[in-house]
Amino acid sequence: MDTASALALRSCLSRFVTGVAVVTFDGPRGRSGLTVNSFTSISLDPPLVLVSVARGARSHDELPGRAFCVNVLGAEQEAIARSFAGRPAGEHAWLDHPVAPRLAGSLAWLACQPWREYDGGDHTLFIGLVADFGHRDGDALGYANSRFTVFAEPAYGHEFLL
Ligand SMILES: Cc1cc2nc3c(=O)[nH]c(=O)nc-3n(C[C@H](O)[C@H](O)[C@H](O)COP(=O)(O)O)c2cc1C
Repeated sequence: MDTASALALRSCLSRFVTGVAVVTFDGPRGRSGLTVNSFTSISLDPPLVLVSVARGARSHDELPGRAFCVNVLGAEQEAIARSFAGRPAGEHAWLDHPVAPRLAGSLAWLACQPWREYDGGDHTLFIGLVADFGHRDGDALGYANSRFTVFAEPAYGHEFLL
């Protein structure tokens, strides 16, 4: 694909509004992580989630076979999203977890055991088996049109899923 087409495709895809998460794990560099918006749920039985990681990311070659935690970010955590997207900014508040280290203050978190990895072109799809999870109420950090945004707290409840 030529550069103009690639830019047009990125612009097209940027209309799909997402949340923002940081994938954290214990790797060869110690506790590390990367910001993603490619997170999606896949299956409830078994409980599976997916993140797509660029082959060029340092984490790409560190994640295979490792447990990881998906930390869904709250509205006030934009600085954390930027920090794990290549602009390191100070220390992070980590919490220990028997599966994988996680970030303090996240809106939701899912600790995953490695399940499968699939070729995804210039990315690899990492599928994790959810071993533990938790969440809190609050506004969510969002990403739309290549910009951070905020989603005001929705009325969380199962009735809206049915
Ligand atoms: C909002 C946002 C979403 C991102 N989503 C992804 C993603 O889904 N997959 C990915 O590989 N990189 C994504 N990135 C880029 C990585 O966070 C960035 O390349 C990071 O520096 C990789 O870290 P590493 O090289 O230490 O692994 C995203 C960045 C931002 C700001």
